[in-house]
This record gives sequence, structure tokens and C-alpha cells, in this order.
Amino acid sequence: MEKVKVGLVGAGGIGQVHLEILSTFDDVKIAGVMDIDESRARHVAEKYQARVYTNLKDMKNDGIDAVYITTPNKTHFKYAMEALELGFNVFCEKPMTTSLEEAIELEKKVKEKNAVFQLGHNRRFAYVYSFMKQKIESGELKPYSFQIKMNRGELLNPPWTSDRNYTGGFLYESTVHLFDMACWLFGDVEEMFVLGKKSIYPDYDDWAIVMKMKNGILGTFTSCAHASWMIPFERVEVYGEHMMMSNDEMEKVHFCKGLGKEVESHDYTKVDFKEKWGYVRENRAFIDCVKEHKTPPVTVSDGVRVIRIIDACYKAVESGNPHVRLEG
Ligand SMILES: NC(=O)c1ccc[n+]([C@@H]2O[C@H](COP(=O)([O-])OP(=O)(O)OC[C@H]3O[C@@H](n4cnc5c(N)ncnc54)[C@H](O)[C@@H]3O)[C@@H](O)[C@H]2O)c1
Repeated sequence: MEKVKVGLVGAGGIGQVHLEILSTFDDVKIAGVMDIDESRARHVAEKYQARVYTNLKDMKNDGIDAVYITTPNKTHFKYAMEALELGFNVFCEKPMTTSLEEAIELEKKVKEKNAVFQLGHNRRFAYVYSFMKQKIESGELKPYSFQIKMNRGELLNPPWTSDRNYTGGFLYESTVHLFDMACWLFGDVEEMFVLGKKSIYPDYDDWAIVMKMKNGILGTFTSCAHASWMIPFERVEVYGEHMMMSNDEMEKVHFCKGLGKEVESHDYTKVDFKEKWGYVRENRAFIDCVKEHKTPPVTVSDGVRVIRIIDACYKAVESGNPHVRLEG
């Protein structure tokens, strides 16, 4: 395969970020753009000399190899299933789906079609989190416990952000990234104690969760939707034997190497956001995996694992039984 021919479904904010990055890769041709808003599709397609499409079938007939699904949350499942059925490789934005049943069905379809399917958990490719992962994997810091927070300033803009029928629920928005981060850094969740309430909005907008991982690591996880945009709104703290790591969003990472020892810090404030948030590296990884038909770094099964956690959180608050044991 010389150039990977890519089609985009959903030419909004993040879809355009992906196209901007893909347009810098020599081995990619941006071939098609589709959006429910045809004038937007046309505008974006023109920028990259791509064709406008109104359905996936025509994209397939024109030889497009891979599609990016960057539409609103609730539509990911429908488009991903259709794209897989047609034989596309798929990059799907988070959340993979907005229900566990859909996530399991999608996982089956990816396996049946032997497709390359990568999920948009860009945080894994962000410099601050790659640093943490490397320190844990190399054994420089053995984690015993952690604290994670993922806040939003408001659910006012755009107004649908507080509508669970549209988003699937607040936890399926940005919080989903940090559930993936918890599993990626610390392993599978075994047990949780989940509290959630509706403080300001009609959706559950305050969450306090205690986690026990299968390997015994303990953690707390909070997510609030009405925190103002004061920083830090996204932070992971990892505690080892008299050691600690933490990040300030995607801007800085700190590693205290022991009692009385130095703190190593890295500052990415001047790096372009597409790099420091991991978008460039996640796109490079996806294209390489498509070319070599390799398993991508964020798989459909990673998606199922995270959706299972979120599904369990909503079931816990809705049933009034906060204690959850995760199977599967
Ligand atoms: N990984 C990340 O960091 C990240 C960042 C932002 C958004 N996202 C996710 O990406 C998705 C898109 O978010 P966004 O911020 O770009 O939203 P957006 O509203 O800017 O863009 C969505 C686009 O999809 C189009 N659209 C809506 N319904 C459609 C349909 N049924 N068929 C085809 N097109 C349709 C809209 O017209 C719009 O152009 C969301 O699921 C969001 O959670 C991920």
C-alpha cells in the first residue's frame, strides 16, 4: 500500500485536528469527507482536495482504506459497525460506545472482520503520561496507590453537554480518558466503591470513586462537571516507596525520586498542543498499523474495559448499591 487513503466522518473540531495532522504525513491521502452538515463537509473537503461523500458505501467503492469516526458520542457505534461491515480499518474517537452491550458487539465485529481498529485515547500518547508509563514500566517507580481527578468547568457550552441522551452521560465525555489512563498505568480494576450525585445539572455531575486494582494498587478517582475552568482540572498523582509523580494537565510532569532526592520536571508549555496532547503520535501509530496490518496501541478491548467501568458506575448510582466488583 503506497498511500493510505483516509475518509473522515464528522468534520467538526477534533475531526479537523486529525486531518491537519494527517495532511503532514507523506504516506496519507485525505480522500473523503462526510458530515451531516454538507456545507461543512464541502468546506473541509476543499481544503484537502478531497471528495464529499454522503455515505460510507461510496467511500469504500472509491478505494478508501480507513475511516475516522469523529461524530457525536451516540453515533460512534452505528458508524463503526457499518464501517467494519464494509471492510474499512477504523479510527474511532472516544467514547467507543455509550453502552456496554454496544461495546461488546463492536469488539466481536472487529475480531470477525480482522480489522485495524484504534480508539482515540490520545492521553496515552501525551508526553506527560508517556513519561509516567515509562517510569512505571522500567521499575523506577513501583506504584502502591494513586489519585486521579478529571474535572470540567461547566456543562453549559455547548448546551447538549448536560444532556445524557446526547453524550451518554458525563463520564463518557472527557472523564473516559482518565479511566483508560487508570487501567493503562495501574492495570485492571477489581473492585470499586462508587458515589455520584446530581449537584447542579440534570446529569450526574459529581463523582467520588474508590478503586482497588487486581494487582492490589489502591486509588481514588473524582470527576466534577462544575469546577470552573481553574487549573489543574486534569491530574494523576502516583505514589511509590517515598516517591511520587504528578502532572499539570498536558503541560508539565514531575517525578520525585525519593526522600531528600531531586525532583525531575519536564515543561511542555511551549510545545504545540497537537504534539503534547498526543494527537500527532496517535495518528502516526494508526497509519503505521493500517500499513502493516498490526494490532494498534489502543484496541477495541481497551475500549470495552473502560466502558465496563463507566457502565458499572452508572449502575451503582442508579441501583443505590455503591459496591461494585468487576467481572470480565
Ligand atoms: N480525543 C479527544 O481528545 C477528543 C477531543 C474532542 C472531541 N472528541 C470526541 O470526538 C467526537 C466529536 O467531537 P467534536 O468536539 O469534534 O464535536 P463537533 O460538534 O465539533 O463535531 C462533530 C461533527 O459531526 C457532525 N455530525 C453530527 N451528527 C452527525 C451524523 N449523524 N453523521 C455525520 N456527521 C455528523 C457535526 O455536523 C459536526 O461537524 C465526540 O465524540 C467527542 O467526544 C475527542
